[in-house]
Amino acid sequence: MSVTLEQRIRETNERARKMKENDSFFYLKSVEDLDGARAKVDGREMIMFASYNYLGLIKHPKVVGAAKEALDKYGTGAAGVRFLAGTTDAHAKLEEKIARFKNADAAITFSSGYTTNLAAVTTLCRRGDLVIMDKLDHASIIDGCLLSGANHRSFLHNNVESLENILVRSEKYQNKLIVIDAVYSMDGDIAPLPEISRLAKRYNAKLMVDEAHSIGVIGKTGHGIEEHFGLENAVDIHMGTLSKTIPSIGGYLAGNQELINFLKLTARPFIFSASLPPVAAAAAQACFEVIESEPELIVQLQKNIKQFREGLQGMGYNTGNSETAIVPIMVGEEERALDLCKEVNRKGVFICPILFPAVPKGTDRLRAHVQASHTSEEIEEALHIFEQAGKNVGII
Ligand SMILES: Cc1ncc(COP(=O)(O)O)c(C=O)c1O
Repeated sequence: MSVTLEQRIRETNERARKMKENDSFFYLKSVEDLDGARAKVDGREMIMFASYNYLGLIKHPKVVGAAKEALDKYGTGAAGVRFLAGTTDAHAKLEEKIARFKNADAAITFSSGYTTNLAAVTTLCRRGDLVIMDKLDHASIIDGCLLSGANHRSFLHNNVESLENILVRSEKYQNKLIVIDAVYSMDGDIAPLPEISRLAKRYNAKLMVDEAHSIGVIGKTGHGIEEHFGLENAVDIHMGTLSKTIPSIGGYLAGNQELINFLKLTARPFIFSASLPPVAAAAAQACFEVIESEPELIVQLQKNIKQFREGLQGMGYNTGNSETAIVPIMVGEEERALDLCKEVNRKGVFICPILFPAVPKGTDRLRAHVQASHTSEEIEEALHIFEQAGKNVGII
């Protein structure tokens, strides 16, 4: 018998109430002040390990300056959809910048990363087409598949053989789209792009890569997954968010001119939803410029990632296959993950637990995000806290 809506509401509220009673509800916390690597949460100053602010650009003077200038020039919002009156020169300049940054002909922006993935999959695929995803792709890609009406299949995470098994059985599909994340958002590992790109070409499938967590993080100069592997033209559709390393709001797709024209003329989330505020577009553009003019930030981030990840591993923590700024601290069961999270937060590190169903059952974890703006001392302090907390809870 199906569960009623009333039951679902009751069960969800009950679960949240129990977590709050146990002091284990780490969600929807109000961050009162955010200064890169530190934040004030519920009145307490904490070291921030839960933010996507990988290069620490949130308060970068060039980014804040560009936003202030745009605010004075355009006001608070575009008050229109892109297709009609909502395109400003700030949008046009941002899209030109993204296209150059991703070495593509053109780009299109949307009002969130989530919407961008929905737009890509629903515009490029429809009933009778096939979308092939990695099992750990982001929820927005899965939702795009469901909404598109296309058939969809998942291959085992980062498993090229599993992908090929699907491709060899997919001859009947004329339009095949493979969608992967460059860096997986729960695990921090990197997709094997060279092999996946080779398969996409061999089996005549288009390849789209979600670079939400790779821009500014991987590749010698932070340009993402193709730079990381030293490849060019391996990806047909570059997707990225303007909400992580680029601390604004929005998302983009970059690719060949005809494809981007097609998206601008037909993607429903572009046509039927208001455009990005110009101030957000100007801030995002400034971020791309800072990534290119201050490559030392990427070097610093890589150094910090190494210090943090190796420090945790040295204490006996399992950080999975992470190679990036996302460092999962694997625990296993929900209760123990919550216990560890409680201890770590109590001692001054702001971090959130990631629990089933956001991750497969039995892989509950804490997810840390390293930033270039963490000082070496802050990382040491956080590691010390993790060591004490892990021992108290019996995890290490
Ligand atoms: C891999 C990935 N893609 C897409 C998104 C959605 O982006 P946004 O938060 O900008 O809507 C996220 C957000 O966390 C993500 O991790």
